[in-house]
Amino acid sequence: MGPLQIKIAPSILSADFRILESQVKTVEAGGADLIHCDIMDGHFVPNISFGPLVVAAVKQCTRLPLGVHLMISNPRIFIDPFVKAGASRIIIHVEIRDNISELLRIIAERGIKTGISLNPATPLDSIRDFLPQCDEVLVMTVSPGFGGQPFLPDQLSKIKDLQQAIAGLNRPVEIAVDGGITEATAAQCVSAGATVLVAGNYIFAAADPARRIALLRKNAQV
Ligand code: DX5
Ligand code: ZN
Repeated sequence: MGPLQIKIAPSILSADFRILESQVKTVEAGGADLIHCDIMDGHFVPNISFGPLVVAAVKQCTRLPLGVHLMISNPRIFIDPFVKAGASRIIIHVEIRDNISELLRIIAERGIKTGISLNPATPLDSIRDFLPQCDEVLVMTVSPGFGGQPFLPDQLSKIKDLQQAIAGLNRPVEIAVDGGITEATAAQCVSAGATVLVAGNYIFAAADPARRIALLRKNAQV
């Protein structure tokens, strides 16, 4: 996998919501590949973020594809609202109590990309059966719920194992990492096999988000 194929996905969870449009436009102009939207329900994770209304507003601000990361216990009833809001990919968590395979099929039927995410404590084995249905696996490198947490380095071996598992398939599956991504941890993740870097705090808490995107891209060339 060459360095040019690495995608950078700023997470607007850490954006300044008073000026969300300008923040999105800043990262688009700075070379971002995707906008990552973190959806939290106060149940699957101990925090509440935003819903389809905000995603639809972001959609109006950018030509970039929107990745919608559903940290919610009942994604089934929200797939269509987020598709309507403009999601280009929807990522569900494997830990929820529902029929994962069926949910992935429903997402795929809507003509958008499918993704599955797993928490740091969740073993890779829990998603193996679903890999043939996934366009993306999002490896959580922090416990989901909040931006700005430190990267968990013990997840690197999971990324490597995932890369091996994907190599045995006949279709491309992107490996995304989410949580605590900085120029230092980005390089470690890309070396382990990651191809999509989600970063919130590192990009939006900086005075110059575009420079941070450039730094991430530079450090992703491992
Ligand atoms: C964590 C979210 C992440 C988060 C990443 O619950 O899924 O997308 O915004 O933020 P940083 O990069 O600040 O760890
Ligand atoms: Zn996320």
